[in-house]
Amino acid sequence: MESPSEHQCRAVSPWRGILITASILSCWIQPTSTQFSLLPNPLYGEVNRSITLDIQGFSGQALIYTWYRKAVAEPNKIALYRVETEAQEPAGIREKVLPNGSLLIPDLTLSDTDDYHVTIVNSQGSIMVGQGHLTVYERTTKPNLTANRTSVIENDTLVFTCGTEQAEVDILWFFNKKSLILNERMKLSMKNQTLIIQVVKRVDAGSYECEIRNPISSNRSDPISLTVNYGPDYITFVPNSEKGEIDVKLKGSLTLECHVESYPPAQYIWQVNGTVNSAFSNNTYVIKNATQEDSGEYTCEAKNNVTNLSVSKSITVKVVENPSGGSNGSTLSGGAIAGIVIGVLAGVALIGGLIYFLFFRKTGGASEHHPTEHKSSAPNNSQTFSDSSPKMTEEVPYASVNFNAQKPAAKTQYPSSMDTVYSEIKK
Ligand SMILES: *[C@@H]1O[C@H](CO)[C@@H](O)[C@H](O)[C@H]1NC(C)=O
Ligand SMILES: *[C@@H]1O[C@H](CO)[C@@H](O)[C@H](O)[C@H]1NC(C)=O
Ligand SMILES: *[C@@H]1O[C@H](CO)[C@@H](O)[C@H](O)[C@H]1NC(C)=O
Ligand SMILES: *[C@@H]1O[C@H](CO)[C@@H](O)[C@H](O)[C@H]1NC(C)=O
Ligand SMILES: *[C@@H]1O[C@H](CO)[C@@H](O)[C@H](O)[C@H]1NC(C)=O
Ligand SMILES: *[C@@H]1O[C@H](CO)[C@@H](O)[C@H](O)[C@H]1NC(C)=O
Ligand SMILES: *[C@@H]1O[C@H](CO)[C@@H](O)[C@H](O)[C@H]1NC(C)=O
Ligand SMILES: *[C@@H]1O[C@H](CO)[C@@H](O)[C@H](O)[C@H]1NC(C)=O
Repeated sequence: MESPSEHQCRAVSPWRGILITASILSCWIQPTSTQFSLLPNPLYGEVNRSITLDIQGFSGQALIYTWYRKAVAEPNKIALYRVETEAQEPAGIREKVLPNGSLLIPDLTLSDTDDYHVTIVNSQGSIMVGQGHLTVYERTTKPNLTANRTSVIENDTLVFTCGTEQAEVDILWFFNKKSLILNERMKLSMKNQTLIIQVVKRVDAGSYECEIRNPISSNRSDPISLTVNYGPDYITFVPNSEKGEIDVKLKGSLTLECHVESYPPAQYIWQVNGTVNSAFSNNTYVIKNATQEDSGEYTCEAKNNVTNLSVSKSITVKVVENPSGGSNGSTLSGGAIAGIVIGVLAGVALIGGLIYFLFFRKTGGASEHHPTEHKSSAPNNSQTFSDSSPKMTEEVPYASVNFNAQKPAAKTQYPSSMDTVYSEIKK
């Protein structure tokens, strides 16, 4: 960086007669620091395209422009241009100095990335220096996204790799077409080229893409669809019963559904009193025209043939001769209506309870809050709803709060608790 002033002096030599004093002056006076800047237009170069390096912030009448690469030094000189004669020397090169002093570089290559300098001799004979930087990029090509598996079992480790030969690119990741938000199980490494999912969970199933970007372009990979095999787990019956017992009227019918979370879908085996009933092989067991012999312990076993896991759960079915409440032999539809009525009443009670909770318990509520909130951390908490139905106005508001907090269970358990209320009323 000491060299600029030295070479400025030399650059002036052809004009020696007129400018010698000025050049000596400028050599002494001028700081070596940049006095104006060079701005690429467009801002970034692209391979095979052309670019103009514009002189920014020079005002005055220029006589000579001299362009350099890397540094102002004779060996780095690109070209010298005399405004008066409109002549460039050397003339037959790729780079052209334009009449306003800009440098036009056609057919860019990556190796044109560099610092560029220009010196200007103005009509007063002063020499000024300008500097700027040019970066040339290739258009990004499509990155090649790979994964060491596209179908995994929950809790496996998975590695995605965004393959690209291109340097100086930023890598971004997408999940289901949106920017991937890293969770605590995900890690990026190798300058974002690899995405590691340490303990894959079912929520990670979906479509993954990576994208490479540089200042001139971006290009996205083809998506990879990740399958996560999980479960079965969270087994429940519909209708459900907290006591593990469900009543069916003599000659009545009962449809028992077994629900699990599983991918691929589970296969089901039903046992009654410990004996497999192969007549039922999906998640639904139907008792029609119930007799006393239909009483017993019903077990649903769900198996996932990919994870090789299974779960099972039992419920006791009791066939009752003459349910109290005397609902003259009506079976399902009557029961359903009763259920809806009870449900509505429960809803009213729920709202009432909520109002009661909000307005009357506000002050003293704090001490009562803790035991109920504590309960809510238990997985089956919301089912306490049906158990405590006699004190419904007391308990329901808390239960309703819990429903919101307990996302996955909420949907199936709300109707089931209604059913349970119904079966209790019938007794
Ligand atoms: C110099 O001239 C070129 C070509 O006419 C033009 O593209 C460029 O913008 C000019 N530069 C400035 C700084 O005016
Ligand atoms: C992405 O790269 C491919 C070549 O790998 C190219 O054909 C395509 O035009 C590029 N897309 C964009 C948007 O630049
Ligand atoms: C994954 O880990 C969780 C927690 O340890 C476990 O409950 C679940 O069964 C595991 N899943 C599989 C498919 O092994
Ligand atoms: C994927 O690769 C990682 C690291 O090499 C390894 O730990 C993991 O077990 C692999 N996962 C599968 C499903 O092969
Ligand atoms: C279960 O299988 C029975 C026939 O065995 C069929 O009628 C019923 O629709 C199936 N239920 C479901 C939920 O697939
Ligand atoms: C129910 O079963 C009883 C005795 O097994 C039989 O008499 C009756 O006809 C059956 N009813 C229906 C609707 O199938
Ligand atoms: C199951 O066992 C109970 C008593 O142990 C019996 O009353 C009932 O009939 C049995 N049910 C079936 C379907 O075998
Ligand atoms: C799992 O069972 C399904 C049928 O329920 C079958 O289509 C699939 O091929 C089985 N997969 C394996 C790995 O056994």
